[in-house]
Amino acid sequence: MKFYRIDDLPPYVFATVDQLKRQLRREGRDVIDLGFGNPDIPSPEIAVEKLREAALNPRNHRYSVSRGIDQLRLAAAEHYERSFGVSLDPETQIASTIGAKEGLAHLMWVLVDRGETVVVPTPAYPIHRVAPRLAGATVVTSRADGGIEALAETVKASRPKVVIVSFPHNPTTAIATAEDMQRLVDLAREQEFLLVHDFAYADVAFDGHKPPSILAADGAQDCAVELYSLTKSFSMAGWRVGFVLGRADVVGALAKLKSYLDYGTFQPIQIAATVTLREAPEYPVEVCEIYRSRRDALCSGLARAGWHVDPPRGTMFVWAPIPVQFKDLGSLEFALRLARDADVAVSPGIGFGDGGDGHVRFALVENEQRIGQATRAIKKLLDQ
Ligand SMILES: Cc1ncc(COP(=O)(O)O)c(C=O)c1O
Repeated sequence: MKFYRIDDLPPYVFATVDQLKRQLRREGRDVIDLGFGNPDIPSPEIAVEKLREAALNPRNHRYSVSRGIDQLRLAAAEHYERSFGVSLDPETQIASTIGAKEGLAHLMWVLVDRGETVVVPTPAYPIHRVAPRLAGATVVTSRADGGIEALAETVKASRPKVVIVSFPHNPTTAIATAEDMQRLVDLAREQEFLLVHDFAYADVAFDGHKPPSILAADGAQDCAVELYSLTKSFSMAGWRVGFVLGRADVVGALAKLKSYLDYGTFQPIQIAATVTLREAPEYPVEVCEIYRSRRDALCSGLARAGWHVDPPRGTMFVWAPIPVQFKDLGSLEFALRLARDADVAVSPGIGFGDGGDGHVRFALVENEQRIGQATRAIKKLLDQ
């Protein structure tokens, strides 16, 4: 049978490493999984308490609203003002989404159609290139390591309707300054495209870097929307709470589409998210500190193994160039080798698209002791 849209999607290369991991575990091996970026840090206690309390009230068992309850959108507006210095109208400029991923995917449905182009840096988080394709658009990639200059050239050559960017960046961990954001917004206005900024790592940055919201740039609210999520910042991955914020007609269009598709996140979750944003605004700082110490443990452990990687200034990942002696294997074979011979699962860079094959990505989702165990095993492999 022909399955539309998904038949043309490339195979998910991460599944290959995952399969091997599961097979090794079945054989009794203790594989340390630094592959999938699935946060292991508990969600704030207040979120769990409020969820429990709200779930006990039958009124909250009914359909909710797909664009988010009023108080949740208001809490998101307060959070943006406090954290990023951005003022937004919660009525017209904010809609809640079922995580950033759902928001981004459905956003493409209202933004692009066949014959239109979306520019996406490569490598990137897979949904960035898949979502425009699912919506029928043509995807043109720009080398992520070429930075904003490369992006500007690609834009000028391909005249896209939409450009998707994301800083701090998964997987490359690249960060952007407020000046970089302003350059992107200026480019969007000059070249007349809509800028979509995935801000999933808004609060995960180190060594004094404070990631700027693109919506803080002059003129951004006329040409940009941003996706913000509680997944990483508040370690609430499974709750599925995110927002699309910024240019009002775009936010409104997504809210209208979603009103046909869903009834929003379960209302007790929306209530718990509202209270969390208001009463645990410092939680992202604690989360970030945990990732920082894991980052240090991983980078110093890898350095002891002779594998030198610059410590990232943002995200919960380390993007590591494949050591020279293994370079020819490519990232998938090297990742399989790490799993088989060192009991460490990582994500092969090729899974993030062209330009990713020279790297593997470590996700900082195990504690420092386990990270130490992983780097000692890697050292043994590299010393052979
Ligand atoms: C760049 C990026 N965007 C979005 C997501 C998913 O966010 P959410 O859980 O809010 O859908 C991730 C998760 O890994 C990500 O790396």
